[in-house]
Amino acid sequence: MYYSDDIVEEVRSRNDIVDVISGYVKLQRRGSSYFGLCPFHNEKSPSFSVSQSKQMYYCFGCGAGGNVFTFLMEYENDTFPEALKVLADRAGIALPEQEYSQEARRQRDLKTSVLEINRTAAKYFYWMLKSPQGERALQYLKGRGLSDETIRHFGLGYAGPYSDALYRYLKKQGVSEQLLKESGLMQVSEKQGMYDKFWNRVMFPIMDVNSKVIGFGGRVMGDGKPKYLNSPETVIFDKSRNLYGLNFARTSKKRNLLVCEGYMDVIAMHQAGFTNAVASLGTALTSQHASILKRYTDEVILTYDSDEAGVRAALRAIPLLKEAGISTRVLHMDPYKDPDEFIRALGTEAFQQRINQAENSFLFEVSILERSYDMQDPDGKTRFFQAVAARIAAFEMELERENYIEAITGKYQISFEGLRRMVMNVLMQGAPARRIVTRPPVRPEKEDGIRRSQRLILTWLAEYPQLYRTVSAYVHPEDFSDELYREVAEMLYAQLEQGQVNPARITSHFDGQEQQRAVAEIFNTGVRVETPKEQEKAIQETIYKVVEHGIAQRTGALDPADLAGLQALVDAKRRLQELGRLHISL
Ligand code: CTP
Ligand code: MN
Repeated sequence: MYYSDDIVEEVRSRNDIVDVISGYVKLQRRGSSYFGLCPFHNEKSPSFSVSQSKQMYYCFGCGAGGNVFTFLMEYENDTFPEALKVLADRAGIALPEQEYSQEARRQRDLKTSVLEINRTAAKYFYWMLKSPQGERALQYLKGRGLSDETIRHFGLGYAGPYSDALYRYLKKQGVSEQLLKESGLMQVSEKQGMYDKFWNRVMFPIMDVNSKVIGFGGRVMGDGKPKYLNSPETVIFDKSRNLYGLNFARTSKKRNLLVCEGYMDVIAMHQAGFTNAVASLGTALTSQHASILKRYTDEVILTYDSDEAGVRAALRAIPLLKEAGISTRVLHMDPYKDPDEFIRALGTEAFQQRINQAENSFLFEVSILERSYDMQDPDGKTRFFQAVAARIAAFEMELERENYIEAITGKYQISFEGLRRMVMNVLMQGAPARRIVTRPPVRPEKEDGIRRSQRLILTWLAEYPQLYRTVSAYVHPEDFSDELYREVAEMLYAQLEQGQVNPARITSHFDGQEQQRAVAEIFNTGVRVETPKEQEKAIQETIYKVVEHGIAQRTGALDPADLAGLQALVDAKRRLQELGRLHISL
């Protein structure tokens, strides 16, 4: 970053995290922490915790976490410098201007200006829609069943019949040619110079999660081509990261999100009360979309068009969502094309029914697979079930496999044992299957256990600094297996040496949400213990595990000629034996 550690720490320490987060989330004191409903995913009982002593937050449900900067960055979609500025202002600290590099300042100013232009344009289009010139556009939207309230809510507008109206309007406001170009609202041709990208279209402002206008879609009123025009990518508009409607959907109280294809679908669903609908806007769903969705929900219902393209889009989206840890169901729209048409034809209740009946994504994939087999032909049918068995065999957990075998046998009226045998055959023969059978996933679980023990140690050290002398006699930073853990351990040990524990400051050393989440997890690992005796035992066992694992790791990596290294390992092993006799308490 462009700011010194000291400035960052000064700003951080003068903004109490409980105060700041209380402005966004209703918090209640519980023990030594505060708890509330997590703003980053949907939940009914609070698993979002804020610790005053650590000055960090962590959600036990979705893993969101970090310090006060991370919170603003995640909640407001701020960049780090933006979050720093907000918090500096809040604490009345003047940030040294020169610490912005010129490039950073230029980018920041550019983003702010482009946002401002988009906002002005959105207001202009809305005003046009409500003016006499917008009569036909307004009739078009009303003709498609949208109420005044819906039009206002989504800020719909109209780009008038002249191809230079917005250009002239913005010029009059003093916007420079350069900025107009950056805004994505203009087109440039050699003959005509600069002119409006959108004209004679109804306009859909695209907003980010904070309801800031970052781009537009414009639709012809009728059958012209292209049906939709969209803003190009700009400094503020990145299609692979934005979901239309998410600014509203993220606060909807539903437990899942409905993902569809288009503007009108989102709007129609919201108008009908399905305020959890979002769209990926003509582009295929990306893995970035999936991880954004995961922040808000564990379940997505795909409400894509019922045509071939919609089915293909669903088949592509399912694995991406699964990868992000989201389970997916697919809504059947037939005989209608899309949610908008469905709701207009059959109404809200019928749509709710389809939501309830939405099909598990695996069964959906199987039913698509079925289309490429001749189910009237006995051989075709056999090949189909073999293909299904191969897919079921790909699930790691036996329970999962059994559940799907049951679902398939129910759906196709075949015998459970028969299909199960086919799946077993695949597992015995196939290459991926052999991996599953001969090497059950013990390793990763064990690895997880060790990492968890390592986190426990660091959490305890942060919460009970008095443990430091005992723990550090056995556990060294190099005992931590991954680099991030090791770095955190080194910093924490250094702080403990100084007698100043400050996990939130450690968090500031890491860039990016993923790393900051990992740090928050490190400082928020706990075990349930009832008595001091149990506590003591837990600490002892955890230290033992971590040291033992550290020794094993170092032994594996030891150069046989390194006698000093060997001696150190022997000493470590000896001390490990003594650990059993040690008395540890908090
Ligand atoms: N789309 C686009 N450019 C096009 C066609 C479509 O960007 N030429 C995007 C739009 O975001 C659109 C979505 O893809 O909302 C879905 O397209 P489609 O199903 O064709 O349109 P609908 O959303 O059904 O729009 P309408 O109901 O107005 O026809
Ligand atoms: Mn449509």
